[in-house]
Amino acid sequence: MARFSRRSFLHLSAVASAAAAFHGMTEPMLAAARRRPHAKDAVLIDSNENPLGPCQPARDAVSAIIPLGGRYSDNLTDELVNLFAQIEGLNPDYISCTAGSTPPLSLSVLAFTSPQKSYVTADPCFETGMMMAAISGARVVKVPLTKTYAHDAKAMLAAGSDAGVFYVCNPNNPTGTMTPHSDIEYLAANKPKDAVILVDEAYIHLTESPSALDLVKAGKDVIVLRTFSKVYGMAGLRCGFVIARPDLLEKVVSRGGQNFMPVTAVVAATASLKDSALVAERRRINATIRQQTFQWLDRKGYTYIPSESNCFLLDTKRPGKEVRDAMAKENVLIGRVWPIMPTYVRITVGTQEEMERFQAAFQKVMKS
Ligand SMILES: Cc1ncc(COP(=O)(O)O)c(C=O)c1O
Repeated sequence: MARFSRRSFLHLSAVASAAAAFHGMTEPMLAAARRRPHAKDAVLIDSNENPLGPCQPARDAVSAIIPLGGRYSDNLTDELVNLFAQIEGLNPDYISCTAGSTPPLSLSVLAFTSPQKSYVTADPCFETGMMMAAISGARVVKVPLTKTYAHDAKAMLAAGSDAGVFYVCNPNNPTGTMTPHSDIEYLAANKPKDAVILVDEAYIHLTESPSALDLVKAGKDVIVLRTFSKVYGMAGLRCGFVIARPDLLEKVVSRGGQNFMPVTAVVAATASLKDSALVAERRRINATIRQQTFQWLDRKGYTYIPSESNCFLLDTKRPGKEVRDAMAKENVLIGRVWPIMPTYVRITVGTQEEMERFQAAFQKVMKS
């Protein structure tokens, strides 16, 4: 954590220290409860990773920093935070740099939920926060998505009069669908007094839709999470941001203890932000391959939920877990199944070649 860390370290309570030992659940941990053993040439479209990996300037920056790996160099993290603040028009005091967005997601839930303060989430939705709510002893309230697969803001509010956290994943994982900005504003305006809206924007770059950062800037009780794991292809390098009003931010980061960011992650993130063409280019690549995949599914008569992200739900019309196992036998690892939609499997958009291999395997499995 880049900011507040030294001061916050002094505030750590025994409970928070114990919680800090828990690192949360990342996507590959959730995917198949660990990715199963696979051949070297397996198609990995189970964890919403970016097969393109880090951009070239990020790779060069990582190589160049290796000789300096013996130094903590926390000034590099400050430079990254300042650059992000400048790009987004934020005050740097509103930003903390973290090892991906899993730690601040987990810590936010620990900070704002309790046996008296529930955790309200959409269903289906990314599960990490729900798991952390179980650790904090909070009631977990799952509210089905609307017919258009948006978060149901009004139903979430109605179900969460005791809420500590309203989690909004935008675009949503696993559906890849958007919740309108106006609904997030509505949530922020009508939530119980002490609750926060936790907006997870892990996939926001893959869409052209607006971010919720304006609500943070406007001083609302909103926390935004960003990661370099998706469009920037840095899941293994680990870098992200938590952005919130300083009083909220301190509550989150103080539960994480004192640490420094790996310099490799920081310089790769900085180089990625400086590559001004990168996001648009990768958004275009992802959208093109996603559309080609949808066209193929249409031609073959399969049902799926149209997505704006790098993943989508595909209806197999049979127990999704069986299809997943059968696909693994074909050397294609696909994503997990959510209990509320048991015949749907989540597919990550890979490279064109990977999606061609997915198509061949899927057709074979569905004919068997
Ligand atoms: C919605 C969502 N949030 C957060 C994360 C955490 O990603 P990371 O810790 O790599 O930033 C993921 C990973 O897949 C995700 O899908």
